[in-house]
Amino acid sequence: MHIRELKPEDLELIAAVHHKAWLDTYSSGVLPQKVINFMTLDKWRKSWEKNLCPCNQDFHLCAETPRGRITAFASFGANLDPANCREYPGRLLRIYVLREFQGQGIGRTLIKNGISWLMSQQLNAMTVHVVEANISACRYYEHLGGTIIYRCNVDRLGYSIGELTYGWPDISSLI
Ligand SMILES: CC(C)(COP(=O)(O)OP(=O)(O)OC[C@H]1O[C@@H](n2cnc3c(N)ncnc32)[C@H](O)[C@@H]1OP(=O)(O)O)[C@@H](O)C(=O)NCCC(=O)NCCS
Repeated sequence: MHIRELKPEDLELIAAVHHKAWLDTYSSGVLPQKVINFMTLDKWRKSWEKNLCPCNQDFHLCAETPRGRITAFASFGANLDPANCREYPGRLLRIYVLREFQGQGIGRTLIKNGISWLMSQQLNAMTVHVVEANISACRYYEHLGGTIIYRCNVDRLGYSIGELTYGWPDISSLI
């Protein structure tokens, strides 16, 4: 599996992969159906237009097969949350591996690449936000040594969604 940085030309592909990963991850009762339906392919396209624009300072990676099929992606950047950005200046913004490619070490490889980038930016501690009902992802972050540093409820289209923040005070342990 080849790991590379995403570029503006990947817009259509990555929007479609994100839409699929979104449906696969949250449809089995993890998020209300209305919230899931709200994020259409077009909304993901608009979101990635912003992510991939040259003014965006985050680091966006993907994994692809030898034939150029994107199977996973992850984004890393500065933590802008005033509540914990001093202790945890970096953030894992998102990580998704398409279902049929999970459990093959792709997530771990994306994390390692992202951690190298964060450390090159002197962002040596990081957080990630995760929907509390996404139990599998919570267990994954715990497996990687993350601990819960914050819990809150966020409003999504009138639904109150439990969200956890996991933190790693020293990301060098993840490499
Ligand atoms: C969570 C996710 C990113 C993990 O990626 P992956 O490629 O399947 O994971 P890897 O194969 O790299 O696994 C790395 C390690 O984590 C472990 N692991 C994988 N999934 C796990 C889980 N759900 N719970 C606990 N441990 C897990 C593996 O056993 C492996 O352990 P080891 O390296 O110590 O032997 C992937 O399953 C995914 O995309 N899930 C759906 C999307 C999602 O929920 N994203 C997070 C949104 S916040």
